[in-house]
Amino acid sequence: MTHQPPAPTTPRGRHLLGPALRLRLRSQRTFLAVRMETPPSASAAADAKQAPHRLAVVTGGNRGVGLEVCRQLAVQGVTVILTARDEKRGKDAVESICRESNLDNVILHPLDVTDDGSVTSLARYIESRYGKLDILVNNAAVIGVAADEEGLKALNLDAETWTSGRAANLLKDVFQNTYDVASNCLNTNYYGCKRVTEALLPLLNLSTSGARIVNASSLSSESKRMPNEKLRNDLSNIDIWDEARIETVLNTFMEDLKNGRLEEAGWPMMLPAYSVTKMVINLYTRILARRHPEMRINCVRPGFVKTDINWNLGILTPEQGARGPVMLALLPEDGPTGCYFDQTDMVNVW
Ligand SMILES: NC(=O)c1ccc[n+]([C@@H]2O[C@H](COP(=O)([O-])OP(=O)(O)OC[C@H]3O[C@@H](n4cnc5c(N)ncnc54)[C@H](OP(=O)(O)O)[C@@H]3O)[C@@H](O)[C@H]2O)c1
Repeated sequence: MTHQPPAPTTPRGRHLLGPALRLRLRSQRTFLAVRMETPPSASAAADAKQAPHRLAVVTGGNRGVGLEVCRQLAVQGVTVILTARDEKRGKDAVESICRESNLDNVILHPLDVTDDGSVTSLARYIESRYGKLDILVNNAAVIGVAADEEGLKALNLDAETWTSGRAANLLKDVFQNTYDVASNCLNTNYYGCKRVTEALLPLLNLSTSGARIVNASSLSSESKRMPNEKLRNDLSNIDIWDEARIETVLNTFMEDLKNGRLEEAGWPMMLPAYSVTKMVINLYTRILARRHPEMRINCVRPGFVKTDINWNLGILTPEQGARGPVMLALLPEDGPTGCYFDQTDMVNVW
């Protein structure tokens, strides 16, 4: 299979990858090294570091958009560490890429983004085996509600009603915003992304091809969807934000959830925890981009993709959804940073 993402374009349709780079990417596919790597062992750690030209980590790589990002990066000649929190699901995913796309440059490593030990173990593995990292795709996420799936199916929602956010009222009866599920959502979608990024930044600093970080965002992150006027205005002013301020906002959200006053306090009512995490992912992306001007750090909405996270209500294929993240993972040195993309188009949402 030859999944080739379109050459990246700006909103005006200008190619972000120069012809030379596009040529190189294509030719790399021709002589892609075929090899299978195994998870770390004591002897592997002692091996001389054999770093590939470009090495990527994808979180939540075992299914959905993440799986397809792994496949498309591997097709482009990137050595991909496909991470998964469940070993069997991860192994099946790597095997499916190798078998269906005839590739062998995909390596499995366990990673639960909510687990400090798991994140440290991944960082140690990359450090000892490769001594650097070039691309990090923070893709793993959960939806943050407990759903009555039968009730949801019965609503027979169309894509427009879902993506416009107008479904919020209809969904009140089928989605429960429980404290534990919302807390896990924050811990996965925002703190998980931050945890993995902080652990891997020292290795990204050693990138030989220019470090790229891609954070999965969502339509629900757009600041215009924040009913609380003060917060909505604050979201547009990146200068006031740092991680401590984000944490304060998330703590307030959890407090309001506990006290049953989400609507009264002006939080988004369409998937509240998920929406808030994606709003802060946008902020975190911009904070990081400001702090690391030498890297290209962006966030991207993959589109409304038919995957488990939306109970397969989406309309795009995972292959289509992966194009934006893959484009941003392969940005040239002079590519944009600190930006939000709707699939492959740069959009101002703050
Ligand atoms: N699909 C869409 O329409 C859509 C729209 C906007 C944004 N997005 C974003 O795109 C990204 C990918 O979504 P998707 O549609 O591919 O969803 P998905 O099919 O539900 O996949 C989510 C992935 O995240 C993993 N994950 C969840 N919790 C994890 C944890 N604690 N540690 C490690 N991995 C974990 C899952 O692993 P398990 O298999 O172990 O659960 C799975 O691999 C997400 O960030 C999502 O918010 C998707």
